[in-house]
Amino acid sequence: MQEIKNYVETHKQRFLDELFELLRFPSVSADPKYKGDVLKTADYVAQKLKDAGAENVEICATAGYPIVYGEKIIDSSLPTVLIYGHYDVQPADPLELWHTPPFEPTIRDGKIYARGACDDKGQFYMHVKAFELMMETNTLACNVKFMIEGEEEVGSANLGIFVKENADRLKADVVLISDTSMISMEHPSIETGLRGLAYMEVEVVGPNRDLHSGVYGGAVANPATILCKMIASLHDENNHITIPAFYDQVVELTAEEKQALNSAPYDEAEYTKDLDIAEVWGEKGYSTLERTGTRPTLEVNGIWSGYIGEGAKTVLPSKANAKISMRLVPNQSSEEIAEIFTKHFESIAPKNVKVKVTPHHGGEPVVTPTDSIAYQAAEKAIEDSFGKKAIPTRGGGSIPIVALFEDVLGIKSVLFGFGLDSDALHSPNEKYDIYNYYKGIETLPLFHKYFAELSK
Ligand code: BES
Ligand code: MN
Ligand code: MN
Repeated sequence: MQEIKNYVETHKQRFLDELFELLRFPSVSADPKYKGDVLKTADYVAQKLKDAGAENVEICATAGYPIVYGEKIIDSSLPTVLIYGHYDVQPADPLELWHTPPFEPTIRDGKIYARGACDDKGQFYMHVKAFELMMETNTLACNVKFMIEGEEEVGSANLGIFVKENADRLKADVVLISDTSMISMEHPSIETGLRGLAYMEVEVVGPNRDLHSGVYGGAVANPATILCKMIASLHDENNHITIPAFYDQVVELTAEEKQALNSAPYDEAEYTKDLDIAEVWGEKGYSTLERTGTRPTLEVNGIWSGYIGEGAKTVLPSKANAKISMRLVPNQSSEEIAEIFTKHFESIAPKNVKVKVTPHHGGEPVVTPTDSIAYQAAEKAIEDSFGKKAIPTRGGGSIPIVALFEDVLGIKSVLFGFGLDSDALHSPNEKYDIYNYYKGIETLPLFHKYFAELSK
């Protein structure tokens, strides 16, 4: 442990400088305008893997953005850790809400502010530096493979193909991912589940053109009003989702599982204060931790129609649109849910409008084991590094690759995240605490050490 701390102490400024350099690339995968930057980011990641001591580093082309691969195989009798992360980031909009520019990382109050600081550049780069540390101090205890992709934030559409085609190269005993959150640094935790996702876009079309709202209003159904009514009907008075068969495959937690989940620290007053809301909301009969971690949900992500420019325009719009996504839990299937959503949404449309439903990307839910050697290694690493026992929690977010790794390669994951829910992922002023960054770099080598020991 002291050797680890010494190495981090000696190289701490460079570790930060390199992360800053990585954060300066605007690697927004959703916006084609950044294509060149995304590709340059892949080059930088590949170079840094090489510098840290990885071999067979390759920028693997896909139909979309490339996957950066690198490995260090020291002994085929040792276990292999496959490290997954993503170098792409969410769009930074709305830009005017950032206190400092999103791609000029800035330190305030011990925190790094930048798009991708926590999700996921700051987090996957901890692995690159922990790997460098183990190489330089001759303490690498497991074989290591890196797979850092560039399309996570847009659904990882090409990753499935890559994983299938490279099943041999990716063979490993565990997938290690830092792309999730801890409760807090005082309450270190390990996520043991992720929700799935079914993302849909809907369009409601009324008259064949925008109309004068005085001349036609009252006689023609307004698609914006109809869309709002249709969306409002998707939850009942208990905030239960009304789509028939939506909950059919959902597994209820056992009383013990519920109890364990709800024993995690959660302060509702703090939660509502942080968000500036008077009270929480959700499905009747479930706690906040159950609602976000173990229950499926439906959210409107965007909604638009008619005139939204300056001033007023009296118009009855021809159409209205919305993006709607559903978070899924075991054993729901994103494909099935997309199908029943489509059927239901079409069925509730009144005759005076036409409805079009288009599915976007999806991802499957997962629960990761807590009785595996890998989970125990993560627990021991946290205990050493934090002096506390890790609390298992269920995450509300999605990382579609986790279920894929399990289905295609038969490898389970450990979600070893060091972020915080309050790090403003996907929001303006995303941040990552420098303390968490170094803490992660110090804790990860312990995982490798314990994983090798426990695998014997
Ligand atoms: N790192 C997040 C997922 C996450 C965040 C999991 C916090 C648990 C805690 C990831 O980059 C992400 O944002 N995933 C998307 C899904 C994807 C298909 C766009 C998400 O959850 O919305
Ligand atoms: Mn992420
Ligand atoms: Mn993300």
